[in-house]
Amino acid sequence: MHILIPGGCGFIGSSIAIYLKQNIKNCTVTSIDNLSRNTSYLNQKRLKKHKIKNINLNLSSSDCLTKLNLKKKIDLIIDCCAEPSVELSKTRPNLVFNSNLKSTLNLLEIAKKKKSKIIYLSTSRVYSIRQINSLFKKINFNKKLPRKVKINENFSVESPISLYGFTKLSSEILIKEYSFLYGIKYIINRCGVISGYGQFGKQDQGFLSMWLWRHLNKIKIDYQGFGGFGHQIRDVLDIKDLCYLIKEQISKINKINNQTFNVGGSTNNSISLVELTNYSIFATSNKTKIKKNLKTSNYDLRYYITDNKKVYSKYKWRVKKGINLIIKETLQSLIENKKYLYKIL
Ligand SMILES: NC(=O)c1ccc[n+]([C@@H]2O[C@H](COP(=O)([O-])OP(=O)(O)OC[C@H]3O[C@@H](n4cnc5c(N)ncnc54)[C@H](O)[C@@H]3O)[C@@H](O)[C@H]2O)c1
Repeated sequence: MHILIPGGCGFIGSSIAIYLKQNIKNCTVTSIDNLSRNTSYLNQKRLKKHKIKNINLNLSSSDCLTKLNLKKKIDLIIDCCAEPSVELSKTRPNLVFNSNLKSTLNLLEIAKKKKSKIIYLSTSRVYSIRQINSLFKKINFNKKLPRKVKINENFSVESPISLYGFTKLSSEILIKEYSFLYGIKYIINRCGVISGYGQFGKQDQGFLSMWLWRHLNKIKIDYQGFGGFGHQIRDVLDIKDLCYLIKEQISKINKINNQTFNVGGSTNNSISLVELTNYSIFATSNKTKIKKNLKTSNYDLRYYITDNKKVYSKYKWRVKKGINLIIKETLQSLIENKKYLYKIL
């Protein structure tokens, strides 16, 4: 089986590439990545160690299909290519539009030509910001939030969902249109926060690794928005748990296809910023200054916890790695790469 992984030098793409190469018999993997993320270079080195080739190409360029001379058959495309920053989508909508949506269009053209199946890494950010934030509007910002609500696939996708969310939801629709026209089999995974070994994150993408990095180096951080109390909640899924799910999805794709799943750490792996601070102090033995920043970004969510019921019902897939271990392993990879990370984070 030959798998193409666009965005293969990103955190998720590189982890999936290596995992599948190691865990599927006779599997070859090719990555396409233009190394636009400043940490992608590190992952390209990891791929090389595992004899996975990266083609350095901008997947949103109009001539990318002519430049890409793929002779081998491609059984499956796992689309991990994106500029995944929600905040950046406000200031650089063109970049986000092209890297996220236009690249999916180009990939679908490849899938059409090569008769490939496609697995798409979508996001919980396709869900309505207003509707999520109004779930708790009666609870004051200085109070902890209850963790009873879980978001399933039927939750509203009504705008606003952010420009980033728009590009991801539009890519999902594009995939369904190509599937309808050309019989391309697809799976869409709407992921919550993914973390773990190999993540070198930014504030709005990879907040867990960013939090750990800042503690490690005693760099100040903010509890931003929602009164500055740090009670906003996310659920976190370990990258290995995601890789395992993808392997299951590949093995069953002829039977289970053309479906959309919510995939995330769910309630047991949910964490508030205040709790993450306590974990970070414990893990790094360092304290850092935390400022209250009262300005809430109009794209920020107060809460997100995934309902994994559907993905469990199809694959009997469950979250295995707990938040403690995710934090430990994320920290370990930051420490292993700190020489390089000092220059860029
Ligand atoms: N990390 C998360 O918590 C998370 C959560 C939900 C969904 N996702 C989705 O998963 C996917 C991967 O996310 P990630 O965290 O690995 O991000 P990442 O930034 O680490 O990886 C994305 C990769 O895509 C590459 N890329 C971007 N634009 C490109 C272009 N035009 N041409 C070629 N390569 C390009 C980048 O160089 C980078 O290596 C994204 O689609 C993202 O929307 C991530």
